[in-house]
Amino acid sequence: MNGAAAISYDDVVAWITAFAASVRDQKDYLTALDSAIGDADHGINMDRGFQAVIAKLPGLPNRDIGAALKSVGMTLVSTVGGASGPLYGTFFLQLGAATAGHEAIGLDELVAGLDAGIAGIQRLGKADLGDKTMLDTLLPARDALREAAASGASLGDALARTVGAAEQGMLATTPLVARKGRASYLGERSAGHQDPGATSSYLLLKAAADAWSGAAAAS
Ligand SMILES: Nc1ncnc2c1ncn2[C@@H]1O[C@H](COP(=O)(O)OP(=O)(O)O)[C@@H](O)[C@H]1O
Ligand SMILES: [Mg+2]
Repeated sequence: MNGAAAISYDDVVAWITAFAASVRDQKDYLTALDSAIGDADHGINMDRGFQAVIAKLPGLPNRDIGAALKSVGMTLVSTVGGASGPLYGTFFLQLGAATAGHEAIGLDELVAGLDAGIAGIQRLGKADLGDKTMLDTLLPARDALREAAASGASLGDALARTVGAAEQGMLATTPLVARKGRASYLGERSAGHQDPGATSSYLLLKAAADAWSGAAAAS
């Protein structure tokens, strides 16, 4: 049921909760990736931010998906230092603005929300495909989701294709020379390492697909 409101408020909370658990689980791995081409804090930054996010989720006043995602964004901006705090913060603020007032969303709203979130990251960070950042995961994933939605794919199929494209994009960062962020200071020496932010963005989309497998089966 393309476009049907298949993803509920509880599904969104389950996504954020699953991602926080995934970040906790992969904290050392993300930090190890950042130690090769950055300052060894990406796992620490993401874990600090998402533990703060999780602490606030139960206290949210109503079942508005957009308000919840905006709260995630504000918490990240205020608790995470480094590049990833403002960038992921902006992503969630824009995703929240695009879904404001909805207690459930469908595939089309998800595409529009992802578009808005990515546009926010690009306005702030001025990076594009191939710069060896989180956008190397998010842009191909967004394109795959959009194509799946346009072809009338089910939610489950669309999410599977999105995660596949995200994984390819993440893996494709390894040979790249970084042109943005701290890794760009290394120049050619940044090649040969997978980008930490591209990796956390893959985990973010994987968490959505995993958390929403029930909703996908029902749609
Ligand atoms: N301008 C940018 N646009 C998009 N993503 C970026 C940009 N600069 C850095 N990043 C992402 O942020 C990640 C690093 O995050 P983190 O280590 O938490 O922050 P910092 O680099 O400040 O230590 C990088 O791996 C990259 O994916
Ligand atoms: Mg870092």
